[in-house]
Amino acid sequence: MTHAHFNDEDSNTSHNPAFDNVLQARLSRRGLLRGTAALGGAAALGGCATSSPVAPVQALGFTPVAKTTADRVTVPAGYTARVIYALGDPLSASTPAFKNDGTDADFGNRAGDHHDGIEWFGLDAAGKPSDRFASRGLLAMNHEATTDEKLSSFFLHANGGTSTLPRPAAEIDKELMIHGISVVEVQTDGKAWANQPASAFNRRVTTMTPVAVHGPARGSEHLVTKYSPDGTQARGTLNNCGTGRTPWGTFISGEENWFGYFTRDAKDDDARKKDKQVQALNRYGRKAGAPSRHGWESGGTSDTYARWNNSAVGASAKDDFRNEMNTFGYIVELDPYDKRAALRKRTALGRLGHENATFARVSAGQPVVAYMGDDARGEYIYKFVSSAKWDPADAQPANRLAAGDKYLDQGTLYAARFKGDGTGEWLELSMDNPIIAGSSYFEFKSAADVAIFTRLAADAVGATKMDRPEWGGVNPKNGEVYITLTNNSNRTPASVDAANPRAYTDMKAGKEQKGNVNGHIVRLAEKNPADAAFNWDIYLFAAEADADRASVNLSQLTDDNDLSSPDGLVFSKATGVCWIQTDDGAYTDKTNCMLLAALPGQRGDGASKTLAYGNQQVTTYVGKAPTPATLKRFLVGPKGAEITGITETPDGRAIFVNIQHAGENTKMADVGDPAKFESQWPANAGYGAGQRPRSATIVITKNGGVIGS
Ligand code: FEO
Ligand code: CA
Ligand code: CA
Ligand code: CA
Repeated sequence: MTHAHFNDEDSNTSHNPAFDNVLQARLSRRGLLRGTAALGGAAALGGCATSSPVAPVQALGFTPVAKTTADRVTVPAGYTARVIYALGDPLSASTPAFKNDGTDADFGNRAGDHHDGIEWFGLDAAGKPSDRFASRGLLAMNHEATTDEKLSSFFLHANGGTSTLPRPAAEIDKELMIHGISVVEVQTDGKAWANQPASAFNRRVTTMTPVAVHGPARGSEHLVTKYSPDGTQARGTLNNCGTGRTPWGTFISGEENWFGYFTRDAKDDDARKKDKQVQALNRYGRKAGAPSRHGWESGGTSDTYARWNNSAVGASAKDDFRNEMNTFGYIVELDPYDKRAALRKRTALGRLGHENATFARVSAGQPVVAYMGDDARGEYIYKFVSSAKWDPADAQPANRLAAGDKYLDQGTLYAARFKGDGTGEWLELSMDNPIIAGSSYFEFKSAADVAIFTRLAADAVGATKMDRPEWGGVNPKNGEVYITLTNNSNRTPASVDAANPRAYTDMKAGKEQKGNVNGHIVRLAEKNPADAAFNWDIYLFAAEADADRASVNLSQLTDDNDLSSPDGLVFSKATGVCWIQTDDGAYTDKTNCMLLAALPGQRGDGASKTLAYGNQQVTTYVGKAPTPATLKRFLVGPKGAEITGITETPDGRAIFVNIQHAGENTKMADVGDPAKFESQWPANAGYGAGQRPRSATIVITKNGGVIGS
């Protein structure tokens, strides 16, 4: 997939201790079974504020969907999927309908592109925030990127746009506004859901929206730019991927592949002389001379374009944008209910290729804890533990972003080390850790440096290099943490370890694919979320059903539940169902990307498994193999699309799922010939004008029931 190579960043060349500590001792591990707790939260039936709780789903009651390469969304019999919000849809009453021919303008008042993570924020009949109403709400979602070839987001321009430098400012201006976040109101009349273009809640956030920098990096010399000489403001948010919902009711967005949008001059390392940032720029994937993804820096001399050149070209950092990349790579918090409130970059949660942030169950008097993945090959899993202790009154705060300040601006960040015996430890990333304060690997002077150069801090302490950590989710039943590891083409038999134990060859259309081709899902159990120790196993190894069951298809998947490249992972608060979404390029000769429903058990419910690579062996811990009753394919998407982002109404009777980049393998030269598009979805599902494929949100309902039951 063309999308995939933006995740194929390969800049972790550090030789941290964990990297060398492979094929570790095969020790037996102690079981650690967790207690269970009741599912929390009352839920409402559609339309009124009744509060009958939804019973957790005990068995997946639908017939699994078969793998398919059809250009449509397929859901089980008895379910209905409808498109409700697609690229370009108006977010104001005065914005014209989307023509979908590359001539549309005013994307500050339209849905952005590449819908990704999505979260539901309920409204009552009076338009006040409500966790109980199920017929009216706001969908806050990320617009990660655009479908590209040779610099241009070609479906967004009438003739496909300009694929050489310099690019016209008018094309760039449109692309700048298509990235970011949107908030859109949706309602159902009891029969059908629809977006509400005239809602006063509707909002767009783009690469141009002012954002306040919060946390330890605020005011750092490394955030000083011509735009913000005191290093407290950033402009925009970029490549927003996974999402989260805080315990105090705000929206969390992760900035993922932001580095690719910047260029650096070929001689920039020399221009910076002894600036320690040269090491960091390389570690974060921007070598001197690297071209930018879209050539946005080429639109003219104004700062709108100049900011995408991350080179030291002025007299000082106040005169150029040498630090502009340091203003991206954060978890961003937005209050979905207040469009006037500025977003806040929560730098205490580190600067990474962030996917989502998922919160542990909160307990009064205990810290707030969030888990996060850094999605690139060989990157790490992180955890943030707040300094402030949870006050249950903050579940309904008077000022939601002030609650965010309280819990997300001070705390401690950790990176995970997985050990061969099924245990693990969280390694502290702070100036209190002498390994960081006294590091000879990188000069950390302050908490701000740790927040901005987080990957280097995790290198220094020897975190475990993982197979591309994507979404995390917390099982509401027992608090265990699931993190998808989507795949890793760099994993080799020489570099496998207990937590990333597979390196194999798979064939696709006559071509070899190597490494951890299909990905897996790791599961962590902690006695308490703030603990420094954990136990782990692999909940699920993704694989093709007919792959070798002893070395590749270790979870014994069948045609009803085999999958490749798990990415989105969200536990339903209403039903406890674990939803797993794929963003795959490895199995797409046989099936488009998909959404599966799972009822997982608990860490330690399976057995150890030793894999042999020549005369070396690695022992891992495989969760109990799923059965047709505990893992089933629920949906297959249209051609070229990944399935990403899922949220629900509190009654569990509607889910909203994002379908990203249908038709992304279309060639730019064919933009004028719909017959040659890889996909014509959602036009071929009866939604909207034109035939160009559009990323979109769909709503899925079950004729009269709770989804998945
Ligand atoms: Fe935006 Fe790692 O997926
Ligand atoms: Ca294959
Ligand atoms: Ca993702
Ligand atoms: Ca992905």
